[in-house]
This record gives sequence, C-alpha cells and structure tokens, in this order.
Amino acid sequence: EAPRDLEVGSAVWGQRELIGYDRKHPTEFQRILGAEFGSLTPENDMKWAELHPEPGVYDFSGADAVVAFAKANGQEVRGHTLLWHSQNPQWVTDASAGWTCQEARDVLEEHVRTVVGRYAGEIYEWDVANEIFQDDWDAGGVRLRTEANPFLKACAEDPVALIGDVFRWAHEADPAAALFLNDYNAEGVNTKTNAYYDLATELLADGVPLHGMGAQAHLSLQYEFDESVTENFERFADLGLQVAVTEADVRMPLGDDGEPTAEQITLQTERYRKLLDACLDVPSCSSFTVWGFDDARSWVPGVFPEGYATIMTGEYVKKPAYHTLLDGL
Ligand code: XIL
Repeated sequence: EAPRDLEVGSAVWGQRELIGYDRKHPTEFQRILGAEFGSLTPENDMKWAELHPEPGVYDFSGADAVVAFAKANGQEVRGHTLLWHSQNPQWVTDASAGWTCQEARDVLEEHVRTVVGRYAGEIYEWDVANEIFQDDWDAGGVRLRTEANPFLKACAEDPVALIGDVFRWAHEADPAAALFLNDYNAEGVNTKTNAYYDLATELLADGVPLHGMGAQAHLSLQYEFDESVTENFERFADLGLQVAVTEADVRMPLGDDGEPTAEQITLQTERYRKLLDACLDVPSCSSFTVWGFDDARSWVPGVFPEGYATIMTGEYVKKPAYHTLLDGL
C-alpha cells in the first residue's frame, strides 16, 4: 500500500507554552513543536473552563495562540473539545444543578456555535464529544455518562438526541471540519467500543454529521496491549468514518531511580509502533497525535504513579519511540 500523507501531531498547552511566541527566537520546545509535527491539538485551551470562564465571557487567548502558531508553522489544528464531563467552569457546574434540558441545550448551543464559528476554516478535525461513555464495569456494561456530564445529565431522557444536535450545531458553524467522537479504552474491540460502534451507527442513521471515531490511546505497560486495533478501526471505517489516534502516550511504572528498564523502553517503542501501524493499515485513519512530546510537560506524572510516557525525555533526548514515529512515516 502506498504511504499516505500522514504526519504525527502533538498536543500543546498554548496558554503555558505559546503565549508570546516569537518566530525568530523560539524556545527549544517551540522549535521542536514547530519543526517536527504536522498538526497541533490544544491540550487545554479549547476546553470550557479555559475558553468560557464566566457566563457570556470568553477568553480565546490560549486557543488563539495555538491557532496562530500552527499557521506560522504550516500546521493543522485539531479542536478539543465541546462536550465533556471534565474541566467545565464552576458556573456550569453550579447552574447545571437546576437546568432543564432546554436550558442545558441553549447554553451548549451558544458555546458550540461561538467557538466553532470563531475558528471556522482553521480546524480540520474537532473532538466534538469527549469521553461520553462511562465504564460501568460493575454494572456489567457501558453507558453514556449521564451523571457526571452536566449537559447529558440535564438531557438524560434522550442523551443521544443532544449529542446529535451538538454535531449539527458544530457542522453548521464549520461545514469543513471533520467532526469526531473521542474516547479512551477505544483502541481495540471491547465492550466499550461495541457501545461506541452502536452509538456511531445510531447517529449516522439519524443523519447526524459524524465524521470520525477518535481513540485516545493513553496506554500503560501495566496493561496488556489489545492487538485488535486494526480490526476495530476497520469496522468504524466500514461505517464510512475516519478514524484517528488522538492522544497517544505509553506510560509505565518506574523504579526508585525514576528510570525505565531497557525492556520497558523496547516495549514502549513497540506499542507506539503498533498504534501507528494500525493507523497506517486503515486508509481512513486521518490523524495520529501524541499527547505532548516530552516528559517534562506530560500530563502523566501528575495523574498516574507512572512516567516516561512520551517520545522525548524532559531534556529533549529522543527516545527510540521518537524515531519509530517521526522517522517511521
Ligand atoms: C489533560 C491535560 O493533558 C492536562 O493538562 C489537564 O490537567 C487534564 O486534561 N483525556 C483527554 C484530555 O481527553 O483532554 C486530557 O488532557 C487527558 C485525558
């Protein structure tokens, strides 16, 4: 099969890393980001809490910085995200306690049209709905996140209708952007991706402008790798959807010295390679993004008792995984 025009992308936190970007005097981080990656995802800057801190008040500074940096460096932008249970502003959390479904819809619609409209034509893929599935392993299944997500909660009688409308609003605001669902534990064929597949099928049957299935791919060496990634991507592709690896990283438990073993480094490289190969195997895989490229800025150590998750050390030393991704295309 002919090699495709696929470039690895990276997440970047614009507010933290790109404000004040000077093309002639980039930081080392900015130089690598601009030179090595084909697309950028704002790591936090397009989330509700950053963009919409008060009712009627928007702060586009971080998001604008990502879009401007991408433009200056000939990169694409993946938007992230419009409907999520996490990183919502306090006012949404407070107000949502009393929302009717219509009130929730009105707040969401205004936000989606404002944000997607502002960047219309500048974003090639949008993670419209993020992590809308709840892993409900105890109850033996997977359900939509109708408790933790304030919007889905207010519209819990018909959450699928709400999700569909969010895609419709986004599509009206930017008809050129490919619109994605995005979730974790969504790489292989499993209970969750079966539910994901059923939802995608239902939305498409309803005529919803859903264009893509995102798999975050936050992997850990603690867990077995699910070898059915290509098979999973193919079934979504068969629905006519694009697929994307949206937030790849491969973390691991580290010893007392904070260093990985040689074996762990080899396993990490293999996992990144398998994710990339799954994307290359499926012609409709449209993007491959790492969730940050250096360990100093990775979200992993703040959240998990693990590390070494990205493709460069905190001192920008290239790991084998760097070569497998960046030289592997
Ligand atoms: C993470 C960011 O990387 C952190 O900086 C932030 O504190 C929390 O969110 N799944 C997602 C991303 O969809 O938005 C999350 O990003 C990581 C998990």
